[in-house]
Amino acid sequence: MNRSSKFAEFLVALAVAGLLAMFRYILSRKKLPADLPRADEPQRASGTAGIKRWVLIAVGLLAVLGVGAFLVVVSGIVPIKASSGHWPITEWVLQFAKSRSVATHTLGIETPPLDDPSLVLKGATHYAIGCRPCHGNPDLQTPRIAQQMTPRPPYLPPRVPNWSPDELFYIVKHGIKFTGMPAWPAQQRDDEVWAMVAFLLRFPEISAEEYRLLATGGIAKVNSELPMPDSPTLRDTPRAVTENCGRCHGVDDPGMAAFPKLTGQRPAYLFAAMRAFASGERHSGIMEPIAAALSLTDMRELALYYAGLPQISPLFSRAQSPFAIERGQAIATGGIRSQRVPACVACHGPGTAPRNPIYPNLAGQYAEYLVLQLMLFKNQHRGGSSYARLMLPVAARLKPEQIRDVALYYASLAPIAGTK
Ligand code: HEC
Ligand code: HEC
Ligand code: HEC
Repeated sequence: MNRSSKFAEFLVALAVAGLLAMFRYILSRKKLPADLPRADEPQRASGTAGIKRWVLIAVGLLAVLGVGAFLVVVSGIVPIKASSGHWPITEWVLQFAKSRSVATHTLGIETPPLDDPSLVLKGATHYAIGCRPCHGNPDLQTPRIAQQMTPRPPYLPPRVPNWSPDELFYIVKHGIKFTGMPAWPAQQRDDEVWAMVAFLLRFPEISAEEYRLLATGGIAKVNSELPMPDSPTLRDTPRAVTENCGRCHGVDDPGMAAFPKLTGQRPAYLFAAMRAFASGERHSGIMEPIAAALSLTDMRELALYYAGLPQISPLFSRAQSPFAIERGQAIATGGIRSQRVPACVACHGPGTAPRNPIYPNLAGQYAEYLVLQLMLFKNQHRGGSSYARLMLPVAARLKPEQIRDVALYYASLAPIAGTK
């Protein structure tokens, strides 16, 4: 007999002994003369004694129930097997408890605008890895292994209309205890969870074909200047790129700035970024699991691969917002003295001055991505490599409109040549 079952038996014996003692006490109290009504206070005394006895009996019954339940558990007759499913009544109670808990906990959550197609794309590409193995896709609505779970992960399109956006947000961010539904890997930031909600809200109305295009990033690749994964120039493409990274980082479309461009970046920075995601020091529910599955050798290979690709010229032209770009240029090159913001070019270029190769280039990057990162730094939600602390005071001192201007300036620049 092992130690834990011995301990369980000891607890049962203790509980039974405790119960016996309590009943003896209740019975013996009946006969105590002190409980008999006294001449001076007949009504109140007998009333209190009666109530006391009922309370004791109720407590005794509860204790019996508790010990009974405990004995059932100790005996091991409760089946925990997933193969038998739940009884309909258990299923109903659990579903009811879930919807009540979600409704109560979503009070006060505000839903941001979710109609941006790049949010839907970001959500869909992650769904394909993070959710599909349990919840299926239009081509395979009930994955075989997940169907043997209790409770079963439902196919989501028919379920989505039952929930409001804030409720979906709460479920996706926090997961559901005891069901296998996991919480979002990066609890520090909410924007990615909202991207997933944006996709879920569209999910019921999209076709199988549209789902396939979204999940593989193919929806935007038509405009790509990047060589396609099957082109002969890319024979040396690492497998990770054709099988995974390319779905997201191959996407190159001005309306779909869901993912950062990796071309035009130096290998030292790309490598440091992957390591930071893998260790959880840089927060992203999308990139953390992907990077954590890479070996250091994979990371090095992928960093060199992306840094060596032909650079994509900016999709964003200076003529689109000339005044904002001019203001952004002044910030990047001269800083803002009154707000103690340093010039960005000292660390990020462009320019000929030598810079630490682990500092990222910003030229030619999507404006939306730069704004997102600066806002994450500002709210202290980004994390990053061990150099990321250099950015915290910079972002904290920038106003949102200055962040937009400087992002537009960098997005309008040609990528820096010779990034190796
Ligand atoms: C390991 C399997 C698993 C993974 C991965 C998973 N889920 Fe779930 N999910 C479940 C299970 C099981 C339930 C059912 C819980 C229940 O019945 O109470 C669930 C429930 C849900 C629900 C509530 C559905 C309803 O109507 O009750 C939503 C929404 C959801 N998941 C979204 C997601 C999203 C989005 C992802 C990916 C980020 C994801 N899930 C990843 C297992 C999983
Ligand atoms: C499902 C989509 C998706 C896939 C697949 C994906 N990424 Fe990412 N990646 C992202 C997103 C989104 C970000 C931006 C994260 C953030 O907001 O911090 C990112 C950021 C990065 C960054 C940091 C870029 C920067 O400028 O800081 C690197 C490096 C990176 N990914 C490498 C990879 C590699 C290598 C692979 C393949 C092994 C890969 N990614 C696969 C979505 C993806
Ligand atoms: C003292 C050096 C320094 C200065 C000055 C600086 N930065 Fe940075 N910045 C960094 C470092 C280092 C990182 C990379 C952090 C990491 O590795 O996680 C970074 C990251 C960033 C990123 C995220 C890039 C990406 O691909 O994820 C943005 C955007 C950014 N900085 C914008 C700015 C702007 C705008 C300014 C000027 C207002 C500025 N920085 C000034 C050092 C600096």
